Amino acid sequence: MALNVSPTLNVMITAARKAGRSLIRDFGEVEQLQVSVKGPANFVSIADTKAEEIIFRELTKARPGYGFLMEERGFVEGADSTHRWLVDPLDGTTNFLHSNPLFAVSIGLEREGQLVAGVIYNPATDELFTAEKGKGAYMNDRRIRVAARKTLADALLTTGIPHRGRDGHQRFLAEMEVLMREVAGIRRTGSAALDLSYVAAGRFDGYWERNLKPWDMAAGIVIAREAGGLATDLEGTDKMLESGDIIAANIQMHKALLPFVTNKGAKR
Ligand code: IPD
Ligand code: CA
Ligand code: CA
Repeated sequence: MALNVSPTLNVMITAARKAGRSLIRDFGEVEQLQVSVKGPANFVSIADTKAEEIIFRELTKARPGYGFLMEERGFVEGADSTHRWLVDPLDGTTNFLHSNPLFAVSIGLEREGQLVAGVIYNPATDELFTAEKGKGAYMNDRRIRVAARKTLADALLTTGIPHRGRDGHQRFLAEMEVLMREVAGIRRTGSAALDLSYVAAGRFDGYWERNLKPWDMAAGIVIAREAGGLATDLEGTDKMLESGDIIAANIQMHKALLPFVTNKGAKR
């Protein structure tokens, strides 16, 4: 963890770790349930809600007036209209459901409409990604930076693949058709929060995805930016939370990748 952690970031870390402990206990159970006829779906939805309750309780206790936007509870108005938590208690649900350890708790904080702090915690790997505006990004106690690679030819990218019940399948295929010929590799982790954290840590050179929710991205945007990355929507503006679309990379890679995935005048 960074040495100069603010009391508020500490509150976020405590909440994320507590929720993470609950998730990892349930993750053990999920592994057992894979072989049962009903499968673990219902159990996982309870695990998800339980983790959200823990975060809600912890954050409310420490900062009573702040509002919330949470995946399960939705909007919760607070007396203090200048602060809002954006929370995904379990990002990577499909992975969790299948006993795949790529999942995370994600907590972002908005102050006067600006994203100012983010915490993403994967209890399966015990990796804690944190950032506060102007103070840099960290993984556990180590400062992290986005990778320095500049060209698509060297780039390992990550993205989201639209699945059943989502739209944009055709557009995704058209994008892939062109892009896969240009890059070193493309991955799909199944957790937007980890995608952004991994870009921040230099494990991926770039990330883009469409149709996300604010709680998928809020914490990750702060972490990626504080690691020296550029995060915008697919038109190059900072309306990611409104549009649900995002691209994040170092500045040069962002410039190289955007024309292939942009919503305006795509390179296809
Ligand atoms: C999902 C993950 C995934 C992304 C989906 C999200 P969930 O969140 O972030 O990577 O592709 O669009 O819905 O459902 O696991 O919280
Ligand atoms: Ca999510
Ligand atoms: Ca979720």
